[in-house]
Order: sequence, then structure tokens, then C-alpha cells
Amino acid sequence: MLASSCQLNTGVKVIKMGHAQVVSHPVHQAMIFLGERLEEKSGGKLIVKVYPNQQLGTERELLELLQIGSLGMTKVSAASLENFSPEISVLGFPFLFRDDDHIAQVLGGEIGKELLMSSEKYRLRGLCFYDAGKRSFYSKTQPIHSPQDLAGQKIRVQESKMAIAMIKGMGGSPTPVAYGELYTALQQGIVDAAENNPPSFYNSRHYEVCKFYALDEHTAIPDVVLVSTIVWEQLSPQEKQWLQEAADESAVYQAELWKKAVEESLTEVEKAGVKISYPSKEPFIKETKAIYDQILTEQPHLRRLLQRIQNTGL
Ligand code: GCU
Repeated sequence: MLASSCQLNTGVKVIKMGHAQVVSHPVHQAMIFLGERLEEKSGGKLIVKVYPNQQLGTERELLELLQIGSLGMTKVSAASLENFSPEISVLGFPFLFRDDDHIAQVLGGEIGKELLMSSEKYRLRGLCFYDAGKRSFYSKTQPIHSPQDLAGQKIRVQESKMAIAMIKGMGGSPTPVAYGELYTALQQGIVDAAENNPPSFYNSRHYEVCKFYALDEHTAIPDVVLVSTIVWEQLSPQEKQWLQEAADESAVYQAELWKKAVEESLTEVEKAGVKISYPSKEPFIKETKAIYDQILTEQPHLRRLLQRIQNTGL
């Protein structure tokens, strides 16, 4: 079993952090930055070692490792966290946010803080959010310009009830596949299409298989940096403060990297022959309206939170 954090006889504490993204992705770079900031603040006494590429497991497995204290930290999509913290699934409602300001106000305010802490009772303490932009469809054989284009298509989704409900509601066939297995799943035709933000579409090289990218921007699901509460509780108050500060600083850095990465990714995939389109959002919004009622019937605890999000900034 992996030791989540270990104290070397030099007195240096090492926290292991696993995630599913490739090293060229901005979230990986932000995690490296987090480690550098922590090392500096602690005078080299507290170190984070980052394991990318799903080396230590899928996002679901990484969260399970954190819960039993076999791994210290991770960064996952809020959609993966949904299985461990029911409240956070609220961020997966399609077309939830009015604009980027609205996202910033929600995640940077009280609701964001509550959501980061909502999984603490499941031994998963959220430290900060990373920007994961907006998710849009990419496909192999035909562009997805309207919900009608999803009919009969197997669409890869994250392991998330909300994502499954959304694709069903739009008329497609949702197929959960772990991120690290998606390239092969697309190549082998296990799925016909998927959805993600531009840096993930580009860095995962899914664009080599999918030549259509339709920017309908149906969801804006952030990433979350988490620490196992088992590891957190072993830290001194000073170490906790350093780790929290390092995470907050890495979030600021990641947000800067993100904007550039979105533009670069779109330019690069286009150069590689991907046809980018900007379909009208209205038909998608219309098809997903019913999902709100369905989810709120199944998960009534989300109603109040959803209203608070919708009212933020009004
Ligand atoms: C985003 C997110 C990842 C997640 C991926 C996915 O890229 O940042 O954490 O694994 O989506 O679709 O699974």
C-alpha cells in the first residue's frame, strides 16, 4: 500500500498527490507550482510529490485512496467528487452560470467555501478550485450542432449522475468511461463522442480521433484540489496554513495559465484539422430544462443550493 505522507529521517514530510491529467496540462503545472510554494514556505520541510497520468488510479480510485489515507492529495473534477459529496453535484447543472463573473462570485464566495468543505465528513477536505472552463462536445463522424445530432450517439460521460441525466435529456446515450481510457474508447468506437474543455481536448490528444468540436459550452464544472483529512489532521497548525496558502496561490497561477491554454488549444486543434463550430445554445438549453426538475425530484437537497447560486450577483 502507498504511504500517503511519510516523514523521512531528515525530518522532511512528503505528501503524495495523484491526478489523471497529462503533464502538459495547466492543472499539472499548477500542482507543481503548489509544491514549489509549499517547499519554500516550509523551508523544505513539507513537500508535495505529484503523480500525473492516472498512474495511481482513476479519479474515483484516487478519492477512495484519500478516504483511507493511502494517498495524501489529489485534484479531480467536481463531477467525480459528486459520488462522494452529494452537494457538489449542483455544479454540474447544465447552463447553470450566466457568465464568468457569476462563476467567480459563486466559487470565490460563501457557496464555494461551503462546497469545498462539503466532503470533509467523507474524509475529503477541499483546499481550492481550479478553473476547468466550459465543456463542449467533440465527435468523430459528424458535428453536434443541436440536440438532434446526439440521437443514436454514444457519448462518453464522467462517472456522474448529473452528466448521465444531462446527455439522456439531450437525447444521446451516455457511456461512463474513465478519462485515461477515453482515447482508446474513442479510437475503438466504444463511444462516438465526448465532451470537455479545450485544454483537455488538446492535451489528451483526443483531437487526433475527433475532428469536430462544437462549442456549445453546456457545463462549467471546476476542478477541486483535495487533501485526505487523515493526512490533514497529522499536520501542525503552521503546516496546515502553509498548505492552504500554497493551494490558494496555485489557484491564482492556474487561472492565469488557463486563459492562455484555452486559446492555444483551440489554435492547435484547428491546425491539426479539427473543425470548430459555435452552435446556438438555445436548443440545448431548451432540452436540458426538464433535467432540472428531474434532478431536483431525485435530489431535493440541491434545491436551496441551486437557488442560492442562481441568485448570486443578481
Ligand atoms: C476535465 C477535468 C479532469 C477530468 C476530465 C474528464 O479535464 O479537469 O479532472 O478527469 O475533465 O472528463 O474526466
